[in-house]
Amino acid sequence: MLIKSTFTPIILSAFPTIPRNPKHFFSRTISNTTQTVQQNASTNPTTTIPPTSAYIHLPFCRKRCHYCDFPIVALGSSSAQPDNNDDPRIVNYIQLLCREINATKVGYNTNPPLETVFFGGGTPSLVPPKLVLSVLDTLRVKFGLSLDAEISMEMDPGTFDANKLKGFMGLGVNRVSLGVQAFQDELLKSCGRAHGVEEVYQAIEIVKSCGVENWSMDLISSLPHQTPQMWEESLRLTVESWPNHVSVYDLQVEQGTKFGILYTPGEFPLPTETDSAKFYRMASSMLSSAGYNHYEISSYSKDGFECKHNLTYWKNKPFYAFGLGSASYLGGVRFSRPKKMKQFVDYVQNLESGVVDCWGSNDIDAKDLSMDVVMLSLRTAKGLDLKSFREAFGCSLADSLCKGYKPFVESGHVLCLDDHRRAITVAELNTLLSNENEIGSRLAYIRLSDPEGFLLSNELISHAFGIIDP
Ligand SMILES: C[S@@+](CC[C@H](N)C(=O)[O-])C[C@H]1O[C@@H](n2cnc3c(N)ncnc32)[C@H](O)[C@@H]1O
Repeated sequence: MLIKSTFTPIILSAFPTIPRNPKHFFSRTISNTTQTVQQNASTNPTTTIPPTSAYIHLPFCRKRCHYCDFPIVALGSSSAQPDNNDDPRIVNYIQLLCREINATKVGYNTNPPLETVFFGGGTPSLVPPKLVLSVLDTLRVKFGLSLDAEISMEMDPGTFDANKLKGFMGLGVNRVSLGVQAFQDELLKSCGRAHGVEEVYQAIEIVKSCGVENWSMDLISSLPHQTPQMWEESLRLTVESWPNHVSVYDLQVEQGTKFGILYTPGEFPLPTETDSAKFYRMASSMLSSAGYNHYEISSYSKDGFECKHNLTYWKNKPFYAFGLGSASYLGGVRFSRPKKMKQFVDYVQNLESGVVDCWGSNDIDAKDLSMDVVMLSLRTAKGLDLKSFREAFGCSLADSLCKGYKPFVESGHVLCLDDHRRAITVAELNTLLSNENEIGSRLAYIRLSDPEGFLLSNELISHAFGIIDP
């Protein structure tokens, strides 16, 4: 079955299926399974280093898009007006968010300041800058905020002008993620987007004229009625707009959304699996030819413009999360906040009174942790670092993975690399596999090939899970 690309795990439950679906994965609680995997997990840096990243969920949108199942609050079309400064729904939420931040335990005695903050949504650009300032100030006082922190904000065309963007930049926002999705009015309309292509061009112009160097564009492939020609056009116009980062997400038809009611994956007017795979290959090929590195299944960047915040997720590092429906990863525990406002208000009250806590004790099952590490690292072009995997989970598990992946190395879906990231041939791999002393010193990384391995990542990662937990 075809693997589709995923959108970033800001709300980690956004991942739709295994392994694209850390919904299962990230909400898994600490289990008591018998440990056959070497237990070095509690000393693994992925679980013991203090968090230096924070995700902030700002849920407001003008309206809900037809594909979207994120926890959002639809404000109505007048909400994009610059005079929405005092909308009580936004003001009250920001107050709640600051209370949540203040009530969250810090966790370690010495804490480095935050290095990345990501305002995701929803449509964060609907929130007035002075309210974003109060969130940043609260974070700064509570955790510290590095002077050169990457501060990203998701922004939608039609919700900001140059003045507002300059306001955000004045607060330290230095990375913009523009939700473009498509360059065809008919597709934007059928997705229920609150903007057209004209606003997309205006937004790009504003971002450029304000001098934001680090900006990204979100695109969605496999939309209903999207033809290969439309997709080719969207990719071409993206490249011509010259963002330093592009995220390409394959449409996930979520239950309970308008698309979920109207459409069945693989059936007209949605593309077939074969066509979706074609779209994925087109993106990989056109963006790579235009100088973008395909550094993660759904992320492309110019050199040095990878999203530092999202790399935290792929490296399985801890992070704070605040706001409706957001998921944090603290002390080895993935914790999802309520998606309904009423329950979220209760949650913040309980946090303040000490009844709930979003931290784990770092006492995690090694098998679970090794699966997280495999799943997340195989989403990246760097792949699985076998040296650190061996140190954390033992040589025999690492060797079993290499053996288990042999057929996929032969088929070209998996690449085995040495220390210098040179590919190890199938013949050499066969020799190494028969000599356990050599395999550890020669084989440094396993990665999925681009695009064929990435396209098959569901199966390939599930295969690894079967080896870890037979
Ligand atoms: C948090 S969402 C929304 C951000 C922004 N407000 C917007 O809508 O443009 C981040 C990105 O996830 C992608 N996305 C959301 N729902 C999706 C779905 N069901 N299938 C594929 N991509 C999706 C969109 O590309 C979107 O820009």
